[in-house]
Formats: sequence, structure tokens, C-alpha cells
Amino acid sequence: MAKMGSSSREAAAIVVVLGFVLSLAVVCNGGKTSSFVRKVEKSGVMPLDSDVFKVPPGYNAPQQVHITQGDQLGKAMIVSWVTVEEPGSNTVLYWSAYSKKQKSEGKVTTYKFYNYTSGYIHHTTIRNLKFNTKYYYVVGIGHTERQFWFITPPEVGPDVPYTFGLIGDLGQSFDSNKTLTHYELNPQKGQAVLFVGDLCYADTHPNHDNVWWDTWGRFTERSVAYQPWIWTAGNHEIDFAPELGETKPFKPYTHRYHVPYKASGSTAPFWYSIKRASAYIIVLSSYSAYGKYTPQYFWLEQELRKVNRSETPWLIVLMHAPWYNSYNYHYMEGETMRVMYEPWFVKYKVDVVFAGHVHAYERSERMSNVAYNIVNGICIPVKDQSAPVYITIGDGGNLEGLATNMTEPQPAYSAYREASFGHATFDIKNRTHAYYGWHRNQDGYAVTADSMWFLNRYYNPDNEFASAQHY
Ligand SMILES: *[C@@H]1O[C@H](CO)[C@@H](O)[C@H](O)[C@H]1NC(C)=O
Ligand SMILES: *[C@@H]1O[C@H](CO)[C@@H](O)[C@H](O)[C@H]1NC(C)=O
Ligand SMILES: *[C@@H]1O[C@H](CO)[C@@H](O)[C@H](O)[C@H]1NC(C)=O
Ligand SMILES: *[C@@H]1O[C@H](CO)[C@@H](O)[C@H](O)[C@H]1NC(C)=O
Ligand SMILES: *[C@@H]1O[C@H](CO)[C@@H](O)[C@H](O)[C@H]1NC(C)=O
Ligand SMILES: [Fe+2]
Repeated sequence: MAKMGSSSREAAAIVVVLGFVLSLAVVCNGGKTSSFVRKVEKSGVMPLDSDVFKVPPGYNAPQQVHITQGDQLGKAMIVSWVTVEEPGSNTVLYWSAYSKKQKSEGKVTTYKFYNYTSGYIHHTTIRNLKFNTKYYYVVGIGHTERQFWFITPPEVGPDVPYTFGLIGDLGQSFDSNKTLTHYELNPQKGQAVLFVGDLCYADTHPNHDNVWWDTWGRFTERSVAYQPWIWTAGNHEIDFAPELGETKPFKPYTHRYHVPYKASGSTAPFWYSIKRASAYIIVLSSYSAYGKYTPQYFWLEQELRKVNRSETPWLIVLMHAPWYNSYNYHYMEGETMRVMYEPWFVKYKVDVVFAGHVHAYERSERMSNVAYNIVNGICIPVKDQSAPVYITIGDGGNLEGLATNMTEPQPAYSAYREASFGHATFDIKNRTHAYYGWHRNQDGYAVTADSMWFLNRYYNPDNEFASAQHY
């Protein structure tokens, strides 16, 4: 007894070890469904007169300013903005501390949707930028000028650290505003956002009232005018409305949000790729044809061959509809694309796939389900260290509310799931390590509610251990 009394440190160690064993057991039993009590009520769309929707003052002032990468390597930026009174100038004036002021000229476009007429939408690509440099830029030349800035990414290379933010299904509710604020104040400091689709949800308003595209552009400007958001098309971007005489899919989205698809040999703005720092990012379209012989299929087949992991160790794929989703919402909607492309993802050792669509959070184990051939019955996902981790991050805060209804029991492939709003960051340290963290809106800015050290699949194909301390 005296011995036990004197060895409280040993006892504590045993408790710690036991705790570790227990937590491992939880992981092995097919993941964790968080019991976190989040706010389930919808918070509602922010009213049209909200502070975040304010029109900037001044005659023909540029509004809805947004930027995205403009080439494959990160030496170009597409700058977009809207003017309302008249077209005004397409010129972007830009400079860095090391260069004189330069000008780049773009184009202006407009579109009509039912009885809505857009403002003058400007897109100007700035090229030949220096890597890793802060640039200031001005739009609205000749009328009301507005100045912003951005920082170009470091030169593409295998050990270049870079932090991506991850946001999906953002919408424009009060929750959306919380998500964006949490992303901005996250000390992890995302340098660019990988956006997994469903931007403004204008199509949920009568006549798809496109005024909500404009409000969303003004709401998100505070982030996307200063760092590029990499766009993925979601179902709320389709805007297919034959009852309104609108039969050209993606009309508002393609007029407002340009992407550098031609730079990656793509023939449509819905699937494309970019390199950024040490990452190769492939954007796919859940809402464009992806079956065999389609343009997207041929493109992806070539694209995966092009990825050089010595140059860009991290292979990240974005899409809207998740392939692995254990919620009772949009259940199996990603299945047909999974059947087409999953063998490639395993073959090419994709590190991680981010999707949205389901308004909740979920992270999978590394597993694949590629053995099934209709007749052999082998249709259960199996652990597979060559497979990606699948993350659903469709919890941006849109007006449709949270997806709370989950399939039971939790499938073994699902490592963690929780119906809370939030965002994530993917923090690449070097060619072997990246720290991933999911942040829920109810927590402090620095808190990760789910996290994981990613070991690169090409350089370090050993087992990973989720480091999450869930509470
Ligand atoms: C468009 O039509 C709807 C009714 O169909 C009407 O309420 C709205 O004011 C119209 N908007 C414009 C810009 O004319
Ligand atoms: C949105 O969030 C910002 C930053 O936290 C805040 O200043 C603003 O008042 C919020 N607006 C609304 C409508 O919630
Ligand atoms: C892959 O990238 C490395 C590092 O940039 C380079 O040395 C090598 O030539 C590239 N391989 C191919 C096949 O392009
Ligand atoms: C959850 O989803 C299942 C399957 O769609 C449905 O049968 C069930 O009624 C739902 N439960 C609730 C509480 O909505
Ligand atoms: C890569 O980053 C991880 C995590 O920061 C670190 O432990 C490891 O030593 C780094 N590797 C190299 C080669 O620097
Ligand atoms: Fe969606």
C-alpha cells in the first residue's frame, strides 16, 4: 500500500495510457459522432440593409471586388468587380514596393436573368507578377477609386509552406457572417481559400433574384478582395430555371466568377487545376458530365498524369457533392462520380478530397471502395493508405440550416462527424507534413474541434494518426 501511495505519478501514467488505449478503441469502432450541442435553429438570411451588404460610397464606385489565381503557377491574378452607374474603366492599377505603377486592361460584361439586369462586371487579369510579393491595386479609375492589396504565393516547390482556408456552402445568413469572421480571425491565418461550392443561394429566392449575387459579392469582399478564393461550382450555381425562360446553366456564376481553366488545358470553367506553393489543386464539377468519353473525364485522365509530386507533393481535389457522406442528406449523390474516378484517386495517391453540399462536417478514414464489379459482392469500403481522406466542409452557414440527421450506426469509414457550422485550414509545413484543423463557430478562434496531421501520401505513405482531441 505504501508503494501505491508513493507512486501517484505511476498511477497517473497508467490512467493516461488507458485513456490512450480507450481513445484508439473509439477510433477503431468506426469513428465518432460528436455529441456537441450546437444551435440547431436557422439564423436566417441577413436583411438587405445589413452592414455587410452596404454599397461603397461614391459615383460608380467598384463593388464586389474579388480575386482568384489567374494562371497555373500563381504569377497572375484575376481581379473582378462590379460598377453600377456606367461601365467605367476596365483598368487595374497595381504596384509593389519594388516596382513602379503598372496598368492592366480587362473586359466588361453584363447579363440578364429573367427580369434582373446585372451591373457592369469587370474582369482583368494581371500577369507576370513576382512571387511572394505584396501588391497594391486600384480599381474604379476615372470615377471613385478603391485600393486593395494581395500577396502572391511563393514560387512553386516541394517544401514551400502554405496555409489554405476551407469554406463551403457559405450563403449569406448570420451564421455565414460568423464563419467568415472566424476564418478571418483564425490565428492559423489562411493565405487563400479553397471554396467547395454553393456561394450565395440566390436561387432559393423568388425568380432566383440575382440581387442576392450582388449582396454576396459585397459581403465576401472583405476577404476575397485581399486573398484569392479558388472556386468550385455547386448545385446552387446552376441556376437552371426553364419556368423563367432561363435554360443556360451556370449563367450568373460564369459571368461573375472567372477561373483560369484554359491554363490547365480545360475546355470549361467548371473543372481546372492550379499549382500553388507545394500544392496541386484539382477542381472538379459534380454538375457537368463526368462519365467515360466526356470532356471532364478526358481532361482528368490527362491531368492526373501531369502531377509531378517532386514539384508539388500535395495533391488536393475539390468538388461539391461528397463521395463519402454518412448524413441523411444528399445521401449517395456523389456515388456515380465516385464509381468513375475513385480508382484514379487511389492510383495517384491523392492526399485529400474536400467537398461541400451537406451542411455539416465529416472526416473519413483513409479508405477506398474500388474492388466491387457488380458480381463479386465486395462493396464495403476498406482501409487503404493509398486513398485520400475525404472531408465534407459544407458547413459554411447558409440559410438552409444544418444537416443533423445522420445514418446509424456510423459507418466504419467515417472518422468524425458533427452538425456544426465552421471552416477548416490545411496548413502545409513541408513535403511530408500538413496540419489540418476544423474550427466550429461556437469556439474560440484558435480552437480546433477536429484535427489531424496529414502525412503526404507520396513521401510518407505510413499510417497516420488523427490527433484530434474532441470535446
Ligand atoms: C421581377 O418580377 C417580380 C414579379 O414576377 C417583381 O416582384 C419584381 O419587382 C421584378 N423585378 C424587377 C427588377 O423588375
Ligand atoms: C458581420 O460580422 C462583422 C464582423 O464580425 C460585424 O462587424 C458585422 O456587424 C456582422 N454583420 C451582421 C449583419 O451580422
Ligand atoms: C518533376 O519536378 C522536378 C522538380 O521540379 C524536376 O526536376 C523534374 O524534372 C520533373 N519531372 C518531370 C517528369 O517533369
Ligand atoms: C432521418 O432520415 C431518415 C432517412 O431519410 C428518415 O427516415 C427519418 O425520418 C429522419 N429522421 C428525422 C428525425 O428527421
Ligand atoms: C516537416 O514538418 C514537420 C512538422 O512541422 C517536422 O516535424 C519535420 O521535421 C519537417 N521535416 C523536415 C524535413 O523539415
Ligand atoms: Fe449544395
